[in-house]
Amino acid sequence: MRANMAYLLGLLASANLAVAFFRLPCAAPIVVERADPIVSPGQVSNHMHTIMGGNGFGFQMDYAATQASTCSSCAVVQDKSNYWVPTVYYRAKNGTFTSVGQTGGALIYYLQRQDSSAVNLMAFPEGFRMVAGNPFLRSYNNTLEQQAINWACIGSPHADTNGFPDYNCPDGLRAQVFFPSCWNGKDLDTPDHKSHVAYPSGLTTGECPPGFPVQFVSIFYEVLWDTPDFADMWYGNSQPFVLSHGDPTGYGLHGDFLNGWNVSVLQNAIDNCNNPDGILEDCQYFTTVTPDIAASCQVPSSIDEQVFGTVDKLPGCNPVQNGPEMATARSNCGAPTTISKPNFPFVDLTKSKHFAYIGCGTDPGGQPRTLLGASEQNNNMTVESCVDFCVSKGYRIAGLEYSTQCFCDNSFSKDRAPVPGLLQDCSMPCSGNDKEVCGGGALISLYQKCTDSTCHNVQLTFINGTASSAAHKPH
Ligand SMILES: *[C@@H]1O[C@H](CO)[C@@H](O)[C@H](O)[C@H]1NC(C)=O
Ligand SMILES: *[C@@H]1O[C@H](CO)[C@@H](O)[C@H](O)[C@H]1NC(C)=O
Ligand SMILES: *[C@@H]1O[C@H](CO)[C@@H](O)[C@H](O)[C@H]1NC(C)=O
Ligand SMILES: *[C@@H]1O[C@H](CO)[C@@H](O)[C@H](O)[C@H]1NC(C)=O
Ligand SMILES: *[C@@H]1O[C@H](CO)[C@@H](O)[C@H](O)[C@H]1NC(C)=O
Repeated sequence: MRANMAYLLGLLASANLAVAFFRLPCAAPIVVERADPIVSPGQVSNHMHTIMGGNGFGFQMDYAATQASTCSSCAVVQDKSNYWVPTVYYRAKNGTFTSVGQTGGALIYYLQRQDSSAVNLMAFPEGFRMVAGNPFLRSYNNTLEQQAINWACIGSPHADTNGFPDYNCPDGLRAQVFFPSCWNGKDLDTPDHKSHVAYPSGLTTGECPPGFPVQFVSIFYEVLWDTPDFADMWYGNSQPFVLSHGDPTGYGLHGDFLNGWNVSVLQNAIDNCNNPDGILEDCQYFTTVTPDIAASCQVPSSIDEQVFGTVDKLPGCNPVQNGPEMATARSNCGAPTTISKPNFPFVDLTKSKHFAYIGCGTDPGGQPRTLLGASEQNNNMTVESCVDFCVSKGYRIAGLEYSTQCFCDNSFSKDRAPVPGLLQDCSMPCSGNDKEVCGGGALISLYQKCTDSTCHNVQLTFINGTASSAAHKPH
């Protein structure tokens, strides 16, 4: 926090105006996959993105799609925007790539910065979207666009750098993207997703250039990567991280913003919420949710490829291109190019066993179990074997947890039930079949015997290739 404030205050040094702001935490990504509805609408994106925000997210989106969200991984209910950046991987000496974990999802700053008090800062209009940064860059040229992209080495005394630092960052490596705040006043988007906006003369402050008469609230992303996990795996004489588009320099970092705000709520906040410390809860126009609720907002991935753990090559067609010349787009390398059915975290047993998936419930530690009947645990657990076990013991609800555990009962308390609209993070592979999901840590995949001839899994609303879950209440 200290480091980012120093950064912001540094950027502010030339401005005399007091700056109010608010800090919007996004507790987790909603999905990590090759999707980019701004740059590659309706298609599989060329490279991996780590995506935060509303679960209306899909491969093709308009403002209505954002508003169809039933939850967001960011804290303010009135914001159903999506925010994304490329994913960071570790490149091993043997040429493989390992996904780097994250702390939280992202922190999005909304800064009420203006050149003069005569300027009225605007909220983004419905349908507005933009991109900052350029994935093809592999060297540094001192333009405003490149000044807007940098890396903070947390826990080190070093200043922020424009490319990846070549020393370890004890508390993580933070990607930072400052977006343009000047608008041409008419286009919600342009073919390059950039020409409708511009930076003010001083990047974060100063006058807007001619042709850009409207000024928006400024947005700034921070995304923290757990690079210390790889601290003792450096080799050779350069740093080992690459961005998902095959960028070992870090200059190609970029950010995408797709507006999903209730515009009048954001405008009210810009006009009236003046907390100088960025405290979100201080703004009366916002309804906030806890990080736990936000983090349980998920979208199933829809591309059939491995993206986490260690992979032989970066997902998509992204050979590492060192530069310094601009990188070139590659294709036809055999990577998937089709959007598949969303990979929902359940098995359809409605026909085979007359059991339906009712959602992902909670089973907090240190308290009585959610399902208190029979239980078993083994390294050969599957959804089918758990349901069979519960049936054999005379129960009609089966729950799977932590890959290996099966619990049974005929009811459970309401406060453990799946939350309507939240897909939740039941995502651990079953110990006996890694293609099936068996709950998570303190999360339980729940299946229930159908009582009549109609037998349906939890109702799923499809929004252009991805989905949200509107869970049934348990009976
Ligand atoms: C879904 O995608 C189609 C085109 O594929 C588009 O016309 C439609 O507006 C999209 N719907 C939403 C809600 O984004
Ligand atoms: C390559 O190195 C990584 C990281 O050290 C390791 O996890 C992986 O198993 C290695 N793969 C091969 C094929 O040697
Ligand atoms: C660097 O930026 C300047 C100013 O925008 C531009 O004229 C020049 O062509 C750029 N150089 C490179 C190598 O991109
Ligand atoms: C936006 O928020 C205002 C204030 O809460 C509410 O009255 C209005 O219905 C919302 N608009 C939309 C489109 O949801
Ligand atoms: C695991 O389950 C499968 C399928 O039910 C069965 O074929 C196999 O024998 C089991 N293995 C063990 C070690 O129980």
